Amino acid sequence: MTIVGSAVSRVDGPAKVTGTAVYAADFALADLAHAALVQATVPRGRIHTIHTAEAEAAPGVRAVLTHENTRPLPWAPRDPRPGVDPKAGERLHVLQTDEVFYNGQPVALVVAETYEQACHGALALQFEIERDEGSAVDPEAVEPEAPDDQQSSMGDLDAAMRDAVHSVDVTYTTPGHSSAPMEPHASIADWDGDRLTLRGSYQMLKFNRNELADSLGIDPSNVRILSPYVGGGFGSKLGIAPEAVAAALAARQLGRPVSVAMSRPQVFETTMRRSETRQRVRLAAGGDGRLTGIGHEALVSSLPGEAFSEPVTQATPFMYRGDNRTTGLRIARVNRTCAGSVRAPGEAVGVTAFENAMDEMAEKAGLDPVAFRKINIPAEDPSQHIPFSSHKLAEALDEGARAFGWDKRRAEPRSVRDGEWLVGMGMASAFRVNMVVEAEARVRLNPDGTAEVETDMTDIGTGSYAVLSQIACEMLGLPADRVTTRLGDTELPPGSGSGGSFGASSSGTAVFLACEEIRGRIAEALGCAEGDLTLKDGVAVAGNRATPLAEVLGGRCLEAEGHVEPGETSSAVRQATYGAYFAEVAVNAVTGETRVRRMLGAFAAGRILNRKTARSQFLGGMTWGIGMALTEALLHDPRHGQIVNHDLAEYHVAVNADVPQIDVLLLDERDDWSNPMQTKGLGELGVCGAAAAVTNALYNATGVRVRDYPATLDKVLAGGL
Ligand code: MOS
Repeated sequence: MTIVGSAVSRVDGPAKVTGTAVYAADFALADLAHAALVQATVPRGRIHTIHTAEAEAAPGVRAVLTHENTRPLPWAPRDPRPGVDPKAGERLHVLQTDEVFYNGQPVALVVAETYEQACHGALALQFEIERDEGSAVDPEAVEPEAPDDQQSSMGDLDAAMRDAVHSVDVTYTTPGHSSAPMEPHASIADWDGDRLTLRGSYQMLKFNRNELADSLGIDPSNVRILSPYVGGGFGSKLGIAPEAVAAALAARQLGRPVSVAMSRPQVFETTMRRSETRQRVRLAAGGDGRLTGIGHEALVSSLPGEAFSEPVTQATPFMYRGDNRTTGLRIARVNRTCAGSVRAPGEAVGVTAFENAMDEMAEKAGLDPVAFRKINIPAEDPSQHIPFSSHKLAEALDEGARAFGWDKRRAEPRSVRDGEWLVGMGMASAFRVNMVVEAEARVRLNPDGTAEVETDMTDIGTGSYAVLSQIACEMLGLPADRVTTRLGDTELPPGSGSGGSFGASSSGTAVFLACEEIRGRIAEALGCAEGDLTLKDGVAVAGNRATPLAEVLGGRCLEAEGHVEPGETSSAVRQATYGAYFAEVAVNAVTGETRVRRMLGAFAAGRILNRKTARSQFLGGMTWGIGMALTEALLHDPRHGQIVNHDLAEYHVAVNADVPQIDVLLLDERDDWSNPMQTKGLGELGVCGAAAAVTNALYNATGVRVRDYPATLDKVLAGGL
């Protein structure tokens, strides 16, 4: 019990900071051709003509692929969804149709000897698209659908609102977001007969392999994906993007490996965006501030026929008490880039708006925001009447408040001034569902006392290499330099992939179980029970007998596979993670500019596997929260739906100058229900409500409540600063 839980540095760190880590676009293959995507310029329509001659004649160009000359692909989704427009689901059905469903959709691929020649050739391509005038790009301008499975109600919220001593009925809006990982998406496709190898940058390889195989109409066993290093994903690499299919098509057509590296604008335009949301939050409380009713209804958008919808109310059923509850989600079908998972889908925006409404209610009820939340912590999941697996929101609120110095906050808005700056404090709770998904891993203990961990799990910058090695070290009693972890290759046992904060718990459990089996075999060889066996520093201790591992192994390898999948514990109890954010901001009384002065988060997310990588995840989450609060917004041109701020100059994520000192408190917690390691997922918890702490502080500083994210200075000024 020395390696798991400690602050181990990432084993992949040196390769990354020295530039020797090989990312998708870095693989140098012999005879590699380079290609550039050409994109549609209307939100919906039909390609009328494509003149390829000029592009084909450009220097170095070898081929121009369009729907007119590209090999037809079957359209056989693995999971066909009844009742949806099959055409609109063809996001990955690249270069197959003259139909356009969103502005930025790839309509052609120019293949050349060099990347620059491909980009030049792409500029020379002439095409005309007939716009369908009936297309909609504004979610507020269409009649939304209300899918039945997204509506839920218990008790009578309207009556609770009528009878309430204190009530809040407010609407918040959040803009679209782009994942904006540092590494733009890129794919190198290489065929060997019927077998395709794709070097790409993806988060969930076993799933990505199926997607790619389905798109191409080939058997998944003929697809290998390699993603040894991934420069951030944040959801945009959960599924494959059009460049992967385009690269595979071109490589087959040309009979040589083809690289398709997307430009930054193409990443914004063709990978999934987070939907904008309009959220109505209703809260009803008695005179003592105890909640009697909760309503949370949201409007989101996606392409026609797409199955995903931003799960805005995902955490609402279990956050706070209240017998009368209504949640609902409506979807507006618009011709914008497809909506998908971005950085904690659901809670990132849902908990944020809800925690703003909670701040409004605390003020109405005359209660301190921390105290108000504490009296509304439910004893069990109030929607399903099942117990919580572990629940430390109260501790996070208390310890966070103490460490931050919350007692110095002045409840009256606009009561602290520092020169021309108005200073305020705000807080919010954090909530995120906890999941385990199916995962496999293989562990091999070698006769020389080294071990290998193998799974197609990815490391998207989160620390998978470090954490999985730590688990094997701990279980097998080996020092850190004796364990090698291989990831990011679909030839290895299928891991969980990285998404939904489930990666470390799911893949880690598979490694844990494989190690447990190896330990069992060692115990058997020594004639003791596994529980009586101690493995430490390459020595097996059973009772009063110490045997070097090499002797136990006697020249053999011990190899085992671990397998985990969700079972009863995922429905018998409510599993989630909790936390509390505290922020101090200063708002310029003249310009309305907001600067975050300091921020602190206290989190309870089960057993911590690595204090360093865990802390880094929370620092990252809160950094996203600052951007979400103050600057980040995807902007679509209302005329033709194009994303206008499609690069990191105009799309304002928080940068160093925006981010002050952030402190992270990791609370001690073990969750007996989550998995044998007692961990819970934490990758996304740090962004689930963080923005609300900042905007609640902004309100406390100024008395201005901005309900339309982000809280840019024009809105602060318009609010009556
Ligand atoms: Mo995440 S948005 O599940 O990568």
